[in-house]
Amino acid sequence: MSHPRVEAVAGEARAAIEGAASSAELEAIRVRYLGRSGGLTQILKSLGALSPEERPQVGAAANEAKRELEALLDARLLATRAAERRRQRESERPDLTLPGRRPARGVVHPLTRVQDEIVRIFAGLGFSVAEGPEIETDAYNFEALNIPRDHPARDMQDTFYLSPETLLRTHTSPVQIRAMRAQKPPVRIICPGTVYRRDVADITHSPMFHQVEGLAVDRGITMADLKGTLTLFAQEMYGPRSKIRFRPSFFPFTEPSAEVDVLCFLCSGTGCRACTQSGWLEILGSGMVHPQVLKNVGYDPEQVTGWAFGMGIERIAMLKYGVDDIRLFFENDLRFLRQFA
Ligand code: PHE
Repeated sequence: MSHPRVEAVAGEARAAIEGAASSAELEAIRVRYLGRSGGLTQILKSLGALSPEERPQVGAAANEAKRELEALLDARLLATRAAERRRQRESERPDLTLPGRRPARGVVHPLTRVQDEIVRIFAGLGFSVAEGPEIETDAYNFEALNIPRDHPARDMQDTFYLSPETLLRTHTSPVQIRAMRAQKPPVRIICPGTVYRRDVADITHSPMFHQVEGLAVDRGITMADLKGTLTLFAQEMYGPRSKIRFRPSFFPFTEPSAEVDVLCFLCSGTGCRACTQSGWLEILGSGMVHPQVLKNVGYDPEQVTGWAFGMGIERIAMLKYGVDDIRLFFENDLRFLRQFA
C-alpha cells in the first residue's frame, strides 16, 4: 500500500525518529513532517493536483504513513520523557554527604555584656535586680530625690519632658524611690536601665544611654560599706590590683556625695592618654542617701542609713574595651559588634 513518493518522506522521518536523542528533538521532528507545513502534510495538501488514478493510492499511503509516524513518535516520546525525568531526579537527589550549613551566630552586645557583668558582681554580694519605667513622673525623677523644680541641679540633666508632669527618666535613681516605697529596710538593689538626656550626640554623649544604680539601706550602714563594696566591685571588674578613690562631689539626693575614680588600668596610675595623664578614671557618682530622701519614702533617718551609686554602662564599656566613640554602640555596625565575639 505504500507509495514511492510517500515512502521517500516517511523513510526519512522514521530514521530521524530513530536517531532522536531528546523529547525536544522529537517535537521538532513532529513539526517537520506532520506539522502544518510538514513534508507529509504537503503531500496530502497537493492530492488535488494528481491524476484520478494516482490520487487514492498516494492519499491512502500518506494517511497510513501519518498514523504510523504519529504512533512511532508517541511511543518514542513516552520513553524519552521517562528517561529524561529519571535523569532529572537523579541530578536533583540531595547529597546526604554534604556538610550542614552553620546557622549565623550572633554575639552579645558589648553594653549587655558589661551590664550583665556588673549585675553578676552585685548579685554575688546579695543585691537583687530592680527595674522601673523609662517614662517617669517629675515627682519620682526629681522631687522625691530632693531636686525641686527651681533647683539648679536640674541643669545637670537636661530633660525630655513629655508633659509638665511626665518625662523620660534622666537617671536610674527614681528606681531607688520606687523600691524603697515598695519595701521596708533592709534594701539591697541593683537597677540597670536606659536613661535619656537632651544632649547632642558626640563622641562622649548620646541622648540615650544606660546606667546601673546601686542602693543599700539598713541600720548602721556607713560610707565605709560603700567604699568596701565599690573596691570589691572594681577588683572584680578590672582585676585584683584595682584601687578606687573618692572625690568630694555634690548630688541633691546624697550627703555627703563622692565621685569615684578607679586607678587607670592601662597605665596603673603613671598617667596615659586614656586617663588624661591623671592616673585615674572617673567611673561613677555616689554618696550617703540624703535624710530628706529617706523621709520622702517613709523611712526614719534616725533608724536607718544608706548609700547609693550610679554609673554609666557606656563609660564602663568604653574604658574596658578601649572604645573611643560612644556612638559606635548604637550604630550596630557588624564589623564593630563582631569584635566582641
Ligand atoms: N543619678 C546620678 C546621675 O545620674 C548618679 C548618682 C546615683 C549619684 C546615686 C549618687 C547616687 O548623675
